[in-house]
Amino acid sequence: MGQREQWGTRTGFVIAAIGSAIGLGNIWRFPYMAYDNGGGAFLIPYFFAMLTAGIPIIIMEFALGHKYKGSAPMSFARAKEKWEWIGWWQVFISFIISIYYVVVIAWALNYTLMAFNLGWGQDTKGFFFSKFLHLSSSPMQWGNIVWPIFISTLVIWFITWLILFSGVKKGIEFANKIFMPVLFILLLIMLGRAVTLKGASEGLQWLFRPDFSAILNYKVWTAAYGQIFFSLSICFGIMITYASYLPEKSDINNNGMITTFVNCGFSILAGIMVFSVLGYMATKQGVSIKDVAGAGVGLAFVTIPKAISLLPGAKFFGTLFFLSLVFAGLSSMISITETCVSGLMDKFKWDRKPTTSLFCVIGFILSLVFTTQGGLLILDIVDHFINNFGIVFAGLVEVIFLSWFFKLDSLREHANSLSDFSIGSWWNFCLKILTPIVLGYMAIANLIGDIKKPYGGYPMSALLIFGWAVVIGIVILSFVMQTGRSFSDKN
Ligand code: PHE
Repeated sequence: MGQREQWGTRTGFVIAAIGSAIGLGNIWRFPYMAYDNGGGAFLIPYFFAMLTAGIPIIIMEFALGHKYKGSAPMSFARAKEKWEWIGWWQVFISFIISIYYVVVIAWALNYTLMAFNLGWGQDTKGFFFSKFLHLSSSPMQWGNIVWPIFISTLVIWFITWLILFSGVKKGIEFANKIFMPVLFILLLIMLGRAVTLKGASEGLQWLFRPDFSAILNYKVWTAAYGQIFFSLSICFGIMITYASYLPEKSDINNNGMITTFVNCGFSILAGIMVFSVLGYMATKQGVSIKDVAGAGVGLAFVTIPKAISLLPGAKFFGTLFFLSLVFAGLSSMISITETCVSGLMDKFKWDRKPTTSLFCVIGFILSLVFTTQGGLLILDIVDHFINNFGIVFAGLVEVIFLSWFFKLDSLREHANSLSDFSIGSWWNFCLKILTPIVLGYMAIANLIGDIKKPYGGYPMSALLIFGWAVVIGIVILSFVMQTGRSFSDKN
């Protein structure tokens, strides 16, 4: 294998990092998270998490990837040989996410096409669950593959494959340079339209009016931290991988801050857009926002289509909205997949093209589970466990290992020596003390919560197979990967 691939330009890297960060999490997850967790009051823990965990961790991951020039497993192995498994753990988390994330993008693609004639009709809820997903009554009942979803899943995998196959510069960088500007233009058009709708201010009041009692609730804090990790793509090995393609002289601190601020700014704008539309719908129907806003998947695929149908120029607006989900999702999907491909390439010294092809075929086959009639239910379980256990525990291990059992200062010095401005010892404090305390608390609270009350009222067998077995299985697999051939023959 020759030299490690590199980004063509500095902007190429930042745009790709932003492309990874901005995803379904910003347009679909952020608004309902804020809504569910005290509206404006959610923003306080959210910004706190952004400043004390988001920025420090993204800088740490950029520094790690840049310094050790490797995918997540290789970077961890080069930091300390016995730590390779931490990198694999993150790769496996990314892998699991990739196989269901792709299906949500696929739904968005189907909805983009349906928007041309508002194919979801009046009863958007009935449409989504019965006519579109053909949802079964239990995650253990898979039924048949739903063909329109199958086809769009195939299309999204194909696009992902094509981009990764073309390499870091000609594929990932090139694609993001198209996707990101288009996405921002789409958002601005929608935003301009949405805030001028009658009733928009009503929606915004709901989103921003603080319910201060929420600040005292630990759930709001864990939700805010979870949202920051998910949204910034940190602790998934993704940012480590992307930083490993940076040229020798690259600003780290500045790039970390830019990525964070653009990502969080985008979330807020998307929230304003979504809630303006909901405010319009509530006013038009003479009901309160809380009667129209649905949480979870329902917000993007049930409530928004309904609201869109009521808009003047509904078809146009609907197409833009779902197209923006597709673009945002795709640029994240390629980063999640690249993390896995890159790990395999480094470990086995394989070439990009065969590795990408192999990975995408396996990923596609596994994601078929989510295109069946039981798909959404399985997705819901896997997503819950990966978010509440996979990410939180992997994040906790990453910050503790790197800040307590490693010369954290060597990463800070590395970052500072390359950057326009330096970060001070507040960075160490956030990583060493503050974030482990919060994450540790979250880990325990989540564990107790799930043991006391099994998630979502699903059958225990389903929770064991798609939940516990997955999150525990990938940790075991990570150690297995570590026992294979070592990275020590550094290239
Ligand atoms: N950060 C992106 C989002 O918010 C994508 C992503 C999600 C990446 C989950 C990793 C894990 O959608």
